[in-house]
Amino acid sequence: MEPASKSWSPERYRRDAGFISRLGEPVLELLAPRAGERILDLGCGDGALMEKIAARGCAVVGVDASPEMVAAARRRGLDARLARAEMLAFSREFDAAFSNAALHWMAGRPAAGRPLTVAPVLDGVFRALRPGGRFAGELGGEGNVAAVYDALAAALRRFDPAAPHPASGLYFPSAEAFRAALEDAGFAVERCELFPRPTPLPQGILAWYEVFAAEWLARIPAAARAADYAELEDRLRPRLYQPKHGWWADYVRLRFLARRPL
Ligand code: BEZ
Repeated sequence: MEPASKSWSPERYRRDAGFISRLGEPVLELLAPRAGERILDLGCGDGALMEKIAARGCAVVGVDASPEMVAAARRRGLDARLARAEMLAFSREFDAAFSNAALHWMAGRPAAGRPLTVAPVLDGVFRALRPGGRFAGELGGEGNVAAVYDALAAALRRFDPAAPHPASGLYFPSAEAFRAALEDAGFAVERCELFPRPTPLPQGILAWYEVFAAEWLARIPAAARAADYAELEDRLRPRLYQPKHGWWADYVRLRFLARRPL
């Protein structure tokens, strides 16, 4: 059984995962927004990066499937809209599209047992762009946070041997697979690169699980939680903790730049 669908707390996200938008700055540079452009931010979250694009003189529209995040972005005065990424209804109206650390949450399966795909999302972004428009972004790539999720999977299986792997609904493609997905949607791909990005977690690994995997942690019986959390940390410490630097996570990024042909 899958856990209840994910809900986001903008406050907790800002406090314990603010590094996501800070580390998204190079993706903004890849987008290179120019004053006067109309830009779509796919999976805009609380609007932290939308705000930076708007500050460069662009008109930015953000879409996100989380009502809490859309509300947080609107509190910043931004044009954020509640929408599912696979159902975008824009047509040839954006000069560019941008997405940071969001596409991996947007995949679906065409039928049970079939591989995860973001094809409907990429089709919608393609339609939303004017001919010649660019799509710059970053998502988790093959192997992303594998140690973090494998340790969680082991913790969950102590209570439910049939528990699904907690990353089984997340889309972490190889560079080759994602390039092919972009091309299938009609894009000309200019860059598509996979690279490791070990990411410090100043709030610790448990705070990371609380932000990104709370719905899975909730499956651990309350009475066993303290012991189980300690075991999770023990399992990960040899790989993801250094006494001098603290906790970090084994992020792998897939960064891309593609264009709708003229
Ligand atoms: C990511 O940004 O790569 C990510 C964050 C949380 C869970 C899964 C992936």
